[in-house]
Amino acid sequence: MGFVSPLQSFALQAMLFFSMIFIPQHALGGITRHYHFEIKYQNVSRLCHTKTMVTVNGQFPGPRIVAREGDRLLIKVVNNVQNNISIHWHGIRQLQSGWADGPAYVTQCPIQTGQSYTYNYTIVGQRGTLFWHAHISWLRSTLYGPLVILPKHGLPYPFTKPSREVPIIFGEWWNADPEAVIAQALQTGGGPNVSDAYTINGLPGPLYNCSAKDTFKLKVKPGKTYLLRLINAVLNDELFFSIANHTLTVVEVDAIYVKPFETDTILIAPGQTTNVILKTKSQYPNATFLMSARPYVTGLGTFDNSTVAGILEYEVPPHSLSSMKKLSLFKPILPALNDTSFATKFTNKLRSLASSQFPANVPQKVDRHLFFTVGLGTSPCQQNQTCQGPNGTKFAASVNNVSFTMPTTALLQSHFFGQSKGVYSPYFPISPLIPFNYTGTPPNNTMVSNGTELMVLPFNTSVELVLQDTSILGVESHPLHLHGFNFFVVGQGFGNFDPNKDPSNFNLVDPVERNTVGVPSGGWVAIRFLADNPGVWFMHCHLEVHTSWGLKMAWVVLDGKLPHQKLFPPPTDLPKC
Ligand code: C2O
Repeated sequence: MGFVSPLQSFALQAMLFFSMIFIPQHALGGITRHYHFEIKYQNVSRLCHTKTMVTVNGQFPGPRIVAREGDRLLIKVVNNVQNNISIHWHGIRQLQSGWADGPAYVTQCPIQTGQSYTYNYTIVGQRGTLFWHAHISWLRSTLYGPLVILPKHGLPYPFTKPSREVPIIFGEWWNADPEAVIAQALQTGGGPNVSDAYTINGLPGPLYNCSAKDTFKLKVKPGKTYLLRLINAVLNDELFFSIANHTLTVVEVDAIYVKPFETDTILIAPGQTTNVILKTKSQYPNATFLMSARPYVTGLGTFDNSTVAGILEYEVPPHSLSSMKKLSLFKPILPALNDTSFATKFTNKLRSLASSQFPANVPQKVDRHLFFTVGLGTSPCQQNQTCQGPNGTKFAASVNNVSFTMPTTALLQSHFFGQSKGVYSPYFPISPLIPFNYTGTPPNNTMVSNGTELMVLPFNTSVELVLQDTSILGVESHPLHLHGFNFFVVGQGFGNFDPNKDPSNFNLVDPVERNTVGVPSGGWVAIRFLADNPGVWFMHCHLEVHTSWGLKMAWVVLDGKLPHQKLFPPPTDLPKC
């Protein structure tokens, strides 16, 4: 950034002055970190295809943000491409700073060509691995990167200090322009073309044609521990991930410490992060090891069933004869593509650390019980068109049968300035208007309704939300992501949720705390959270195609009475629609 004019420096001082007024007391002690994100075109080649893609600073994947708990981030995003842009800091609580959350038309109008916006927020009470990604249309397919939050200075991890930390971010690559892929799907009503590859840190690896040179390599030494910060930034698939002949110890998910457990394979849904400890072999093994990922798929649609691989390579000890030998290559065995039983066993192992230092503050009483169905459905084909969705309709998706219509202005502004009339309805249904056997024989009428309906909660409402999958177009696992909060996963099961029986089995002691949870295929999951963050908060399936089809809704959390219970006023550079 370099040169600062007197005018800019005045502006900076004014900004600092204001931040001193607004900065929450408990956040003091951190530093301010500045990042500059220029959204620009860049030619990138993979699988022998070169394409011009939208990137941050010409990098793919995008730059890594590294901060400490308590730090303030000022990230200036300058849009130098033709698309509208917004960036979301996935999993950041954004306490009172909802204007910086990022989903387009929810907390902000997008940043238009030639414009800029500075995201300004403080990281409060969080440490671990998160990520950032574009939050408009399918631009997150190329605009994404790790967001690493280190503990405060001098505070150790609740596990052995690793000798190195390595972000591993999974992505999805289309030879075509992903914006054209989703535009075509929405036009025809059919499913989108599947991707051509998955990637590890932007690289598809040796199992694809014309790709061996684009392979992620992790070089390790024997007898050490490595912290792998795994991030699923894929658009449309949950992934199994494993490293041949090595065991992983899961220590954190979604930037919350968990009770450590060992596993050969992890399951990670789009929007989820998982920190694992990799302990390397004590002796130089005379072998290299593939690490690979491929999807866990439950739905009926087509999907990219390919496998991304990287290489775990032991550095040859100096003066060793090993360097002369031909090394054997080991490959991991991943679960079958539809292995729901693995998925269930894996998610059942996840428990909050729930220590005195990192307690699990599970809401014990509930103010509002909510029941939302999530799943696919259909919407009618326009006259004179032939549609490629089920029975000549268009694919749609919904929550409580409401397929969410994006407004043309931002919801948070409408709410803040009391101008919600004509923009959204505050009456999102607390349960399906027409109950049915959710996981039984599908109903004859599969049509969704459309609307911009929000669920309004008074400040500090304690919410229990049951998310119920439906069989309307076949059961399917849906990774639901809630903005602005972490929640506790207090229970899950298959079939229809039974409000009389199931709650007695809820775990209110050490349930896993996270921001994205897989609703089991043909089942339900129950979550609890405290609505202690005023603002408008998006909730949606993190399978991007389902979001595009309308599997999304938003919450309004009202201000509380005290100053630290209110949303800050909007920043002056907030983009206009
Ligand atoms: Cu990572 Cu609204 O999403």
